[in-house]
Amino acid sequence: MLNTYSRAQILLHWVIFVLITAQYLQHEWISEAWDKFEDGLPSDFHPLVAAHVFGGLLILVLVLWRIKIRLTRGAPPVPTEEPAALKLVAHVVHLSLYALMVLLPISGALAWFGGVEAAAETHEVLRAVLLALVALHVLGALYHQFVLKTDLMARMKLSG
Ligand code: HEM
Ligand code: HEM
Repeated sequence: MLNTYSRAQILLHWVIFVLITAQYLQHEWISEAWDKFEDGLPSDFHPLVAAHVFGGLLILVLVLWRIKIRLTRGAPPVPTEEPAALKLVAHVVHLSLYALMVLLPISGALAWFGGVEAAAETHEVLRAVLLALVALHVLGALYHQFVLKTDLMARMKLSG
């Protein structure tokens, strides 16, 4: 039975984490560009708008790769110490994180390349949901580490 994530799964988890963090940190250029587009102003965008667009599309490609590995290789079993209710929560949160990592770039691309307003609004809602779920995910990891003491973090360590 599997007892670890593969090196590729771990690398993808952390590379995508860094890329998603960057999407939130360099938000101002894309938001300014979108405001200009909505106001029908000339499209002399800041060059770093491309970082949001291509960074986001890279996330999409990497997440699809990650989902493929997840479906073919699987994941280590949930620690036995974890209460049943928490197992269910963790499962739903992981599934939702995967779904959001696919839907965010798609809604962003529909807004950016297709000029679809509803997609931009969806993008706005989804990124707030992603932030909330990531916060829950991190709390879950900390709860495992320090309360249940399952050493869950070791599963996501490259050296582990
Ligand atoms: C996981 C991937 C992505 C994340 C986490 C993300 C996150 C964000 C965030 C935080 C903003 C807020 C900017 C602000 O108002 O301060 C934003 C806006 C925007 N993003 Fe993304 N983005 C992603 C992928 C993409 C992609 C791939 C595209 C285009 C191809 C895109 C297009 C846009 C557009 C057009 C806006 C401005 C419209 C709006 O506020 O909804 N995004 N995104
Ligand atoms: C953008 C932020 C993040 C996203 C989208 C994300 C997403 C995910 C997903 C989808 C899984 C499930 C893997 C699977 O079973 O297929 C996972 C596992 C995991 N993540 Fe994250 N993660 C993020 C940030 C973090 C951070 C900051 C930490 C550390 C505090 C962390 C720690 C872990 C651990 C320990 C696991 C393994 C859980 C287990 O085996 O049950 N993640 N992550």
